[in-house]
Amino acid sequence: MASALLAWYDRHARDLPWRAPPGDPPPDPGRVRPYRVWLSEIMLQQTTVAAVKPYFATFVRRWPTVEALAAAPEEEVLAAWAGLGYYSRARNLVKCARAVADLGGFPDSEAGLRALPGVGEYTAAAIAAIAFGRRAVVVDANVERVVARLFAVEDSLPAARKAIRAAADAITPQTRSGDFAQAMMDLGSAVCTARQPKCLLCPLSANCAAQRTGDPARFPVKAPK
Ligand code: ADE
Ligand code: SF4
Repeated sequence: MASALLAWYDRHARDLPWRAPPGDPPPDPGRVRPYRVWLSEIMLQQTTVAAVKPYFATFVRRWPTVEALAAAPEEEVLAAWAGLGYYSRARNLVKCARAVADLGGFPDSEAGLRALPGVGEYTAAAIAAIAFGRRAVVVDANVERVVARLFAVEDSLPAARKAIRAAADAITPQTRSGDFAQAMMDLGSAVCTARQPKCLLCPLSANCAAQRTGDPARFPVKAPK
């Protein structure tokens, strides 16, 4: 399952400014990749990729490192954040940057990341996998939908979450887990879409239980009203 998805990602990965190219991450002597991954993941909470792109560009131009952001006055960061919404994210961003600067860099484990302000279960897993190449189970709403379909999970959300997480864990590879996570996100955004999944274009269709039912869009199952 993972190898088919990674082969698809090697051809179809979205070119996003915070991403390294697919494959083994190149050396990161300046240690800026964790900063860029963290910043993008915080911005992408509750905000679309298209809306985030210009803000991400402005932030990394103005504050190229986590140390630079840590040294910025909070009002300036809040002003630069204006328009992205959910201002508690921006306040936590400054707090987190300062905590990371005090630590001398980003923690490279999920547990260490989880202890930072504004970093929840999903974000810690995403940074550990994407920035540090750790094996981590990264489940956002897109991934949840794809996994619910692959395994035709019949429980509705939120009850299905535990089963979806266990299934996501079972298909997450030992290597390239960051690429795998981003491949699942790209698949959910471009192919396994909420309303009309494009199963004919999907690299996982041979392994997909929902596809075999003939009505993949039924998953994840809606709770009865
Ligand atoms: N949404 C949240 N994180 C993302 C990422 N790394 N790539 C694409 N979409 C995302
Ligand atoms: Fe989604 Fe269809 Fe692919 Fe299954 S085969 S993962 S339903 S796009």
